[in-house]
Amino acid sequence: MGKLLEVNNLSISFTQYVQGLQRHYLKVISDLTLDIGESEIVAVLGSSGSGKSLLAHSILGILPYNSHVTGEIKFKGETLTQETKEKIRGREICLIPQSVNFLDPLMKVSQQAVGECKDDEERKEKQIRQREVFSKYGLDESVDDLYPFELSGGMARKVLLSTALLNDPDLLIADEPTPGLDVKSVEETIQDIRNLKENGKGVLLITHEIDVALKTADRIAIFYSGYVIEINKVENFVNSKNLLHPYSRALVDALPKNGFKLTKGVQPLEEVPGCPYYENCPIRLDKCQNNKPELIKHGDAMIRCFNFDEDIPADSEAVVSEESDVIVSEDLVSEELVSEESDVIVSEDLVSEELVSEESEDVVVEEILEVEEVNDES
Ligand SMILES: Nc1ncnc2c1ncn2[C@@H]1O[C@H](COP(=O)(O)OP(=O)(O)O)[C@@H](O)[C@H]1O
Ligand code: SF4
Ligand SMILES: [Mg+2]
Repeated sequence: MGKLLEVNNLSISFTQYVQGLQRHYLKVISDLTLDIGESEIVAVLGSSGSGKSLLAHSILGILPYNSHVTGEIKFKGETLTQETKEKIRGREICLIPQSVNFLDPLMKVSQQAVGECKDDEERKEKQIRQREVFSKYGLDESVDDLYPFELSGGMARKVLLSTALLNDPDLLIADEPTPGLDVKSVEETIQDIRNLKENGKGVLLITHEIDVALKTADRIAIFYSGYVIEINKVENFVNSKNLLHPYSRALVDALPKNGFKLTKGVQPLEEVPGCPYYENCPIRLDKCQNNKPELIKHGDAMIRCFNFDEDIPADSEAVVSEESDVIVSEDLVSEELVSEESDVIVSEDLVSEELVSEESEDVVVEEILEVEEVNDES
């Protein structure tokens, strides 16, 4: 399986002016490394404000002017420059943007979806396909002539989705593609993303909904405070014991199917000298306070934690224990999610309301089991 996208040590920061004169650097993404192969869906899972959209925008070369970027992004083995990003975006790499503001307010939605064409023949073909894709998402012919302000939020999201799929990209970046869609459209979106994979395409799925990541992705990269702290196969998310980082384990233990084991903790908003999880980590070591763990390979997975450094013996007390109290971000605490008995709070941002219901929990479990079966067979 060839690599379609490689992001190496990407960091993004912003210059801000405090009290008029003092310059302040806000680091949002730190040392991010991930890759996506052909026929692969990789989900980036993180809470709101953790820099997920910025990752998408940096791949496409559409970051705001006050951003500073270091690191390298490769597409099909070639390092991307601003010029090459502009050339391939909307063609080989397409974005389903998070915000409906990406639609041009002065252009009819069907024209936007068809986009630039090299000749009349290509235009005709794309117009036929545009109608097919729009119909599939329940957008009838009357929608073609509408302007974005005439669309409801859900319709606008369907237009964005159809526009990206219409271009048949080699790599699709889907930035929160499902919120605001009805249940049927969510299922169709997930299926379309999986169809792209079946056709050899790659997908970067950006989401704050763990159930969407579990249902759709082959691998999940967990974002914490601007760092990717673990990348692991989706089947390992069935049981927190299969995961490596204490935060990833906490996320999975906080799912309803795992008994809602919740604990307290806040993601640091500012850069800290050591491991970003230090303040909340139940298995921290002295060295974690002032030293940053690197993202390293561990079998098929990637992990950013000193407990997986080779210099630490396997029988060290610090190795993740089953009893350890895991801690998850309390930045978006939902009252309903916090039970009296539990000493943990999970970010509600990462656990969608659907997942909280008993029925949908079963659906997610079934999906995971199906993934497991497929993997066992292959
Ligand atoms: N133009 C900007 N100037 C300063 N900070 C910004 C700018 N754009 C984004 N940010 C910062 O980056 C953070 C992450 O943004 P974003 O990628 O949209 O998060 P996510 O998609 O994970 O919700 C924001 O919370 C904000 O603090
Ligand atoms: S053990 Fe140390 S490096 Fe690992 S997550 Fe905890 S604080 Fe971070
Ligand atoms: Mg976003």
